[in-house]
Amino acid sequence: MYKLPRILSTVVTKTKVCLLANFFLLACFSHAKEAAIIDPSARFHPVYGERGMVVSQEMLASQVGADILNRGGNAVDAAVATGFALAVTLPRAGNLGGGGFMMIHLADEGKTIALDYREMAPAAAGRDMFLNEAGEVDNQKAWFGIESSGVPGSVAGLLHAHDTYGRLDFADVIAPAIKLAAEGFEVTVDLSSSLASRLSRMAKHQASKKYFYKPDGSAYQHGEVLRQTDLAETLKRIASEGRAGFYQGKTAEFIVAEMQRSGGLITYEDLNNYKVVSREPVCGQYHQNKVCAMPPPSSGGVHLVQMLNILEGWDLQTLGHNSAAYIHRLVEVMRRAYADRSAYLGDPDFFVVPIKQIVDKTYAASLRKTIDLTRASQSAQVMPGLDIDPYSLERGKQLAEKESVETTHYSTWDQWGNVVSTTTTLNFSYGNGIAVDGAGFLLNNEMDDFSAKPGSPNGYGLIGGVANAIEPGKRPLSSMTPAIVFDADGAPLLATGSPGGSTIITIVMQIILNVLTFEMGIAEASAAPRIHHQWLPDRVACEPGLSVDTLQLLKVMGHTLRKEPRIMGSTQSIQRAPNNGTFGASDPRRQGSGAVAQESP
Ligand code: DON
Repeated sequence: MYKLPRILSTVVTKTKVCLLANFFLLACFSHAKEAAIIDPSARFHPVYGERGMVVSQEMLASQVGADILNRGGNAVDAAVATGFALAVTLPRAGNLGGGGFMMIHLADEGKTIALDYREMAPAAAGRDMFLNEAGEVDNQKAWFGIESSGVPGSVAGLLHAHDTYGRLDFADVIAPAIKLAAEGFEVTVDLSSSLASRLSRMAKHQASKKYFYKPDGSAYQHGEVLRQTDLAETLKRIASEGRAGFYQGKTAEFIVAEMQRSGGLITYEDLNNYKVVSREPVCGQYHQNKVCAMPPPSSGGVHLVQMLNILEGWDLQTLGHNSAAYIHRLVEVMRRAYADRSAYLGDPDFFVVPIKQIVDKTYAASLRKTIDLTRASQSAQVMPGLDIDPYSLERGKQLAEKESVETTHYSTWDQWGNVVSTTTTLNFSYGNGIAVDGAGFLLNNEMDDFSAKPGSPNGYGLIGGVANAIEPGKRPLSSMTPAIVFDADGAPLLATGSPGGSTIITIVMQIILNVLTFEMGIAEASAAPRIHHQWLPDRVACEPGLSVDTLQLLKVMGHTLRKEPRIMGSTQSIQRAPNNGTFGASDPRRQGSGAVAQESP
């Protein structure tokens, strides 16, 4: 059962806490009766708020969200404002030209909603569109060609969230993003180095060069001001016309003109036909806690629950955090889940995803039995585990027609206990690098998340088959896993999520295990070293910070470790504090992120 993190079991009556910059606690308390709410002996500390909290990859955007909470907005208002602000201040992943998923928990109704605003394949897309004459996948086309763009969903999604669940006027919610774009903001070290690293790719496109680099073609330096006036105009059209301000009229004209200039597929009709879908979250029970996350077309929720189901059968706490015995179990569970992902996961509007079977506890028990606790299995011997032929799950054309239907995470929490957990992306950092001339925003390359050819790996080394084949109007399979975890009484206690492509699901799972099983505070949970396995390629990716002795033990068990350690993800999480306040924690792995607390009353 979830207990409050061991460092946090006493409550202060009046606390005034300032900000935390990644590793270092700069904050202090005006006065604390009894014990401090944040234990100074902990190695990593969250930001504490007496009421709401906003956590995102970019500090200005977090501040925008917190200001919205200060003005009486709820968690959805704060999330929508943060989302639009990120489209200005974090152009590598915050976006208007991409898509995302938003998990919303409504405290009053005790209800959790999963909003799907993933990109959709244009009507002219086809199964073999990324194959060359030799029948091989042309990665350049799938990653950086204009055809790699799916129909953007972010604007429709954020508008839908606000229209349905927001409290403040939309004009007030989008205003900070307009101001940041029109007046500009000081480029951070993070943004300056990120843009510099993509200069050669982006500068190939006139509009991208114009929008994100200086007139002499060089990258902005730290402290210089980046103004995005065309983007500001696009945001103003969204502010005044709503959905039509993006999917019709001038913005649509800019998008279609860009497509025509560069040979892209998106038409006025595709834009007009874009649909947001409100879906049932995938929820599972991990000991006393309910864990809810994004359902298909994300694979995140299904495999998160599946993996926790298998892990629930072992006493992980006794094994010890990041011990070889623990990591061995994680790897074997990940291996089996990603094998299933390759066969059974796709857009549920096109393919009957066997969700119930995959998250079934009996299925988990049967998979657990296949795991040797002393030896690594070989991925070549581990196949998708359900006794179902994926071809039998393909929805008939008629049915589909009839029903016709660098990534970033941010979390918000309001004083009423509403919680939002959102992951959004252009797919690669800066998408395909192509900005829409006149409209000021970058296009996604999400079409690469489809399986362009059965068995052929995508940009994240993930393979797939018929379930995730390209079809007009279909949504590419995602790994994005915005999640909300609940206590035994059904109250939310954690919102989390991460970028990281294929590693997202396993990162989110490790955050949840760190909090629930190892009783870490959210800052400690975020900082702890991570591992990842995805069935194929058959190797364990490890972050720096794991003991060399542990790695040696894993090798002796038969695991192949990825040669170079690698950093994984950038979680942006909020945990409920013992007195119903909030703890925010930005992942220390990346610069520029931040948790900002709502002002105390
Ligand atoms: O939807 C997905 O799974 C991918 N397009 C996410 C890409 C991503 O996380 C990139 N960020 N590091």
